[in-house]
Amino acid sequence: MRVSVIGVGYVGIITAVSLAELGHNVVGMDDNKEKVEYYKRGESPIYEEGLEEALKRNINNGRLSFTSDIKEAIEHGEIIFICVGTPSRPDGKADLSYVERVAREIAKNAKDYKLIVEKSTVPVKTSQQIIKTINLYNKHGVELEVASNPEFLREGTALYDFFNADRIVIGVSSKKAENMLKELYKGIDAPFVVTDPNTAEIIKHASNSFLAMKISYINMVADLCEATGADVEKVAEGMGYDKRIGKDFLRAGIGYGGSCFPKDVRAFSQIGKENGLDFSLLDNVDRINRDRIERFITKLKKAHWVFKDKIFTLWGLAFKPGTDDIREAPALKVMEKLLEEGAILRVYDPRAMDNVKKKFPPSEKLYYAKDPYDAAEGSEAILLITEWEEFKNINFEKIKKIVMTNVIIDGRNLYDSERMKAEGFIYYPVGKPEVDIR
Ligand code: NAD
Ligand code: UGA
Repeated sequence: MRVSVIGVGYVGIITAVSLAELGHNVVGMDDNKEKVEYYKRGESPIYEEGLEEALKRNINNGRLSFTSDIKEAIEHGEIIFICVGTPSRPDGKADLSYVERVAREIAKNAKDYKLIVEKSTVPVKTSQQIIKTINLYNKHGVELEVASNPEFLREGTALYDFFNADRIVIGVSSKKAENMLKELYKGIDAPFVVTDPNTAEIIKHASNSFLAMKISYINMVADLCEATGADVEKVAEGMGYDKRIGKDFLRAGIGYGGSCFPKDVRAFSQIGKENGLDFSLLDNVDRINRDRIERFITKLKKAHWVFKDKIFTLWGLAFKPGTDDIREAPALKVMEKLLEEGAILRVYDPRAMDNVKKKFPPSEKLYYAKDPYDAAEGSEAILLITEWEEFKNINFEKIKKIVMTNVIIDGRNLYDSERMKAEGFIYYPVGKPEVDIR
């Protein structure tokens, strides 16, 4: 099938590459010319496991190409995916201006039937708004249809998730659209949930908000564990065996970040309010998550009551392992607060440092290290913020020789308390008794 993908960011590029891999003829379009140039060379401007290989393979076999000309992309695709951003506005609602602009362009330039598919995460009733827009701008009077096909992939395992989806949700208004989308995904062994576009839009927001709620819930329980000397990991294990609860997304820590959970929880709460409903549950999910940063810093305060001129190490800057994405990354908030208090930071991340440097340029107070050991040189506390594999296998004998004081604040429960105690570290995990031998 001829497919166009408008907006080749994190979601769009995975969609484009994966559909080409399934055998379709795909054009990826973005108005960011620099990004398009990268892709044309078979290079990826973002880090995602396996992406560059798949990109090169499909460019070389002629099934995947890129353009920054939207007219070219509209002409090419019988199915056109909208994968542009839907960021938070200051009031928490989703900014739909990028989606609306693309819908307008499609309506103005389409010369034959198009199935327009929203893959971006959008509030319920967005497809109805898109229909109104395309009816207004449909210059050539062609048949244009709109469907919703939300995306559930996770960054870091995006390609795997695309080909091993738990479900494929398609919100359609006609049998024709349903059949086209089923044909498109032929080859992926996942159940189809076929429904109307409004329901599909809600499935996406409800899923992300539920997962975020699970994380805030376990973080709330972690606070109680800290207050009572219990162990949140055991609590999560004990809960997780119950199939109705499940083991996943019960890892307590410094809170959820990323480009989606924070914004989607806020947007879904706003949608509830707009419909006169009490969605304050989600406001609490958001508040509990925001409080994580302060709680994390409070632990550092227990170890060091003054931060000024102290040397602190940050291990991990990306919002999660496996990605260079730093959108709403907890590490950035920690960096901001510590720098404000006059601390000196030595930071390291295997993939995300170039992105962080754009927001926090290197200075005499901020050093971007070559590796975890370089970051720990002279350190007065190590703050583990992102649980990259690389940090799991740290040689603590070596660390003890290079740090100034043995303090670890673990925002992800990466290390074992008994081991930390044996190694002689003052160790603050999340939702578990602290190890403070002083
Ligand atoms: P992104 O910012 O990485 O990508 C968006 C892309 O759209 C950018 O490259 C931008 O240049 C391009 N763009 C914006 N306006 C355009 C226009 N008028 N014409 C052409 N290109 C345009 O965002 P993302 O992370 O890929 O997210 C996109 C959407 O997918 C969001 O709604 C998000 O909530 C949703 N989503 C994201 C993920 C994820 O893991 N990142 C997963 C599921 C759903
Ligand atoms: C999330 C969802 O998992 C995807 O299904 C969805 O498609 C995507 O959002 C989206 O809509 O953009 P992603 O943000 O890539 O994917 O990453 P997750 O693995 O879900 O992690 C999100 C955040 O929650 C990370 O900061 C992670 O560290 C945190 N997290 C996750 C926890 O703190 N505890 C957990 O148990 C799980």
